[in-house]
Amino acid sequence: MNSEFVYINEVGPRDGLQNQKTILDPAARLELINHLIDAKLPGIEVASFVNPRAVPAMSGAGEIINGLGETKGCEISVLVPNMKGFEMAQEAGAKIITVVPSATETMNQKNINMSLNETIQSSCDILKNAKNSNLKTRAYVSVAWECPFEGKVQNATVLDIANKLLSAGADEIILADTIGAANPASVGSLFKKCVHEFEHNILSGHFHDTRAMALANVCAALAEGIRKFDSCIGGLGGCPFAPGAAGNLATEDLANMLDQMGYKTGVDLQKLSEIVDYCADQLKAPLGGRMTAWLAKEK
Ligand code: COA
Ligand code: ZN
Repeated sequence: MNSEFVYINEVGPRDGLQNQKTILDPAARLELINHLIDAKLPGIEVASFVNPRAVPAMSGAGEIINGLGETKGCEISVLVPNMKGFEMAQEAGAKIITVVPSATETMNQKNINMSLNETIQSSCDILKNAKNSNLKTRAYVSVAWECPFEGKVQNATVLDIANKLLSAGADEIILADTIGAANPASVGSLFKKCVHEFEHNILSGHFHDTRAMALANVCAALAEGIRKFDSCIGGLGGCPFAPGAAGNLATEDLANMLDQMGYKTGVDLQKLSEIVDYCADQLKAPLGGRMTAWLAKEK
C-alpha cells in the first residue's frame, strides 16, 4: 500500500461548466464551489476570465472571486486566456492564475484567436507579470498529445513550450489531454521525458475521458512519479473550441481509485457523492462518473 499524498485539483466550476447546456449564474457556481471546499479538495479552479460572448457560462468571474468566503486552505485558481483576462483577474483579487497555451497553431487560433508564437509570448508575459506581483502561477500545455485539428503532437514541442513557460515563471506545468486521445503508453512516455527534464513535483496531468482511458492514464503518470491531477466533479467538462472533447476524468472516480490504492487525498468521498447528485439536479442532466452509484449501493 502507498501512503503518499496525491493532490486533486478540481476544475469542475471552470472546465466542467464552460460547455454545459444549462448555464449556472455566479451565485449557483459559488454554492457549488463552497460544497467542493467542504469536501476538502486541496485546489479548485473556480472561474475563467474570458470574453462572456465567447463563453457565456463563464460570465461573472469577478463576482465568483469576490463572493468567496472562507476557503479553508483550499488553493483557489482562475484561468486567464490573455493579458486582459490576467488584468481582470488581478483586479478581482485572484491569487493563483493559470495560463492556457495549446501546443499547436490551429488550436490556439480557435481557442484564443492567437498564433502559437503569440500565445507563448503572451502566456510568458502574463507569467512574468504574475510573478512580479507575487502570485502563484500554473500553466497548461493543452492538446499535449493530440490536437483535434492537427493530429498527433510531438513530445519535443511540448517540452519546448514547457521550458519557455517555466523560464517565464510558471510554478507548475499541467499536461492536458484536451480531447481525451492519449493512452497509458503515450502518457507514460511523455511524462517520463518531462520528469527527466523538470522536477516531477511541478508536473500535473489533466485527462479527458473520451475513450475511457483517463484513470489508466493517471496510473501511467503515477508510475512516473506524478502526484497532482486535475479532474471534474461528475465527469463534467469539455472545451467548447475543441471538437470531440468529452467529459473530464470524474473527481469522485479519481479520489476513490487513489483511496483504494492507498494514496492519501484528504478528500471526503461521501461529500463528493452528494455534490454529484447536487450537480445532476442543478444541470438537469445525468453525470459521467461511476463511483456515486457504487457508493449508494454499498449503503
Ligand atoms: N475577458 C473578457 N473580455 C475580453 C477578454 C477577456 N479575457 N479579452 C478580450 N476581451 C474583449 C475585448 O474587450 C473586446 O470587447 P469589445 O468587443 O466589447 O470591445 C473583445 O473581447 C474582443 O477583444 P480581442 O482582444 O480582439 O479578443 P478576441 O476576440 O481575439 O478574443 C479571447 C480573445 C481569448 C478573449 C476570446 O477568444 C475568448 O474569450 N475565448 C475563450 C477561450 C476559452 O474559454 N476556452 C476554453 C478554455 S481553455
Ligand atoms: Zn480540459
